[in-house]
Amino acid sequence: MEEKELILIIDFYGQYNQLIARRVRECNVYSEIVPYKISIEEIKKKNPKGIIFTGGPSSVYEEGAPRCDKEIFNLGIPVLGICYGMQFMTDSLGGKVQKAEMREYGEIPVKINNNSKLFEGLEDSSVCLMSHTDYVEQIPEGFKIIGTTDNCPAAAIENEQRKLYGIQFHTEVNNTANGTKIIKNFLFNICRCKGDWHMDSFAKEQINHLKNKIGNKKALCALSGGVDSSVAAVLLHKAIGKNLTCIFVDHGLLRKNEGDEVEQVFRNQFDINLIRVNAEEQFLSKLEGVTDPERKRKIIGEEFIRVFEKEAKKIGAVDFLVQGTIYPDVIESGLGEAATIKSHHNVGGLPDYVDFKEIIEPLRDLFKDEVRKLGLELGIPENLVYRQPFPGPGLGIRVIGNITKDKLEILRDADYIFREEVKIAGLEKDLNQYFAVLTDIRSVGVMGDYRTYDYTIALRSVKTVDFMTAKWSKIPYEVLEKVSSRIVNEVKHVNRVVYDITSKPPATIEWE
Ligand code: XMP
Repeated sequence: MEEKELILIIDFYGQYNQLIARRVRECNVYSEIVPYKISIEEIKKKNPKGIIFTGGPSSVYEEGAPRCDKEIFNLGIPVLGICYGMQFMTDSLGGKVQKAEMREYGEIPVKINNNSKLFEGLEDSSVCLMSHTDYVEQIPEGFKIIGTTDNCPAAAIENEQRKLYGIQFHTEVNNTANGTKIIKNFLFNICRCKGDWHMDSFAKEQINHLKNKIGNKKALCALSGGVDSSVAAVLLHKAIGKNLTCIFVDHGLLRKNEGDEVEQVFRNQFDINLIRVNAEEQFLSKLEGVTDPERKRKIIGEEFIRVFEKEAKKIGAVDFLVQGTIYPDVIESGLGEAATIKSHHNVGGLPDYVDFKEIIEPLRDLFKDEVRKLGLELGIPENLVYRQPFPGPGLGIRVIGNITKDKLEILRDADYIFREEVKIAGLEKDLNQYFAVLTDIRSVGVMGDYRTYDYTIALRSVKTVDFMTAKWSKIPYEVLEKVSSRIVNEVKHVNRVVYDITSKPPATIEWE
C-alpha cells in the first residue's frame, strides 16, 4: 500500500485520546494512538508527519509519571503537547512545572498571539476548555509564550524553529470554540500534511490490499447483521468475490424480520456466498427454563460458536477468518494500564475448532463513524449502516426470565411498533438505543367487558455517547401515547406498557 500521511498520538492516559485521533481524521489525515512507552525506533519506522501528546492525570514532577524518550524532541518531527503533554514537554526541555494554588476548570478565555502558526486566523481571545491543577511556571529555553489566561501565564507555548508547541487547554473537545481550527493549523501549517485520507480512497486501497494478500485463497466470515461484520464482509467480498463465505447464524433471538433482511441484502443485493443457519429450535431448547441473565449469555455465546464451527467444518479448511474488530476494540484491549476492558460484550470470542491460518481484521484502524462511512461507500443500505447497537444475545436478554417462542413473538411485535413510531416521529437519529422489553410481570386489566391478566411491556430508550453511561431519553408524550395504545391494541397478551425513566448508572441499558 502507498505510504499514507500519519499523525502519531502518544497516549499519556488522557481521557480524550480517542477524541484527538478522531479530530485529526476528520481533517482527512490518518492518525494512530500509541502508548507513551513506544520506542524511538518504532516512531522512526512509522515515519509520522507530526506527533501529538495527549493529556493525562499525572503530575510530571512526581515519581513514576509517564514519560517517553526525550529523544523524541530531536527527531525534527513537529510535536503538539496538550495539557499533560505540554507539561511533559516543558519538564523534559528544562522548564518548570508547578502545582497551581487553584485548579483551573471550565471554559475560560485565553488571550492568544495569532502571529503564531498554531493560532493563525483565530481571534485574539478564544474560549477554551481548561482542566488542570499543574501549570507551566517557567518555559524552556528557546520557547515563547503564545497564550495566557488570568490564572495561567503560559497557557500556550512554542519553539517555532524546532516545531514544538504546547497548549494547556483541550482543543479536541467540542466546547473549545476554535479547537478544530487549531488542530488544522497544526496539521497543515506546521506538519505540512496534505489531508488526502478519504473513505473512498481507503476503500480502494483496502480492496486492493486484500486482493493481493488473499489472492485465490479462501476466507470465512461470521455475519451477525450488525454494522461491523456487515462492512467487513462486503469489503472482503469486493476483494475476493466467491472465495469469501459468510455464515449467518440465526439464533431465533433477532428482531422482527431481521434475519430475512440480512439475507436479502447479502444474498440478493451483493450476491455473497451466504450460509444462513436457522438454529432457533436448538437455541431455545438449550435456553429452556434458564432465567439467570449471565447464564443466558453464556449459553447463547457458546451455542453460537458451536453452530458456527459445525458449519465451518462442512466447508473444510480455510486460509483466513474475517473479524469485524474496530479501532476502539483495539485501543481498549491493547494500550495497557489505563484501558477499560468491556467484559460481556460480543458473542463468545473466537471459535476454537475452525481450521484457519490467519485472522483478517480489515476495520481495525477505523472508528465506528468511519466504519459507517465506509459502509455507505460500499453501497450497504443506510438502514443497515445506521442500525442501532443490538446485543449479541439478542432478544434473549430482553425477555426477562424464562424464554419461550410465544414470549419472543410478543416482544418482537411490540418492539417493531416502538421502532416504527420512533421512525415516523423522526426521532431515529436522536435516540442512540431504543427497544422494548418483555417483563415477566402480568397484571390485571380490562378490555371491553372482560378482565384480562396479561404481560407488561417496558419501553427503554437512551441517549449516550459511549454506552458506558446513558441518560433516559425524553421522548415526547404523544409518541409514547401512540406506541402504548398501538401495542395494547395490536399485540395479543399485552395489557400494560411502562416507560423506563432510569439513567445508567445506576441502571444498565439492557434490563438483563
Ligand atoms: P448495558 O446493559 O451493559 O449495555 O448498559 C451497554 C451496551 O452494551 C450492549 N450489551 C451487549 N452487547 N453482548 C453484546 O454484544 C451482550 O451480552 C451485551 N449486553 C449489553 C447493550 O445493548 C448496550 O448497547
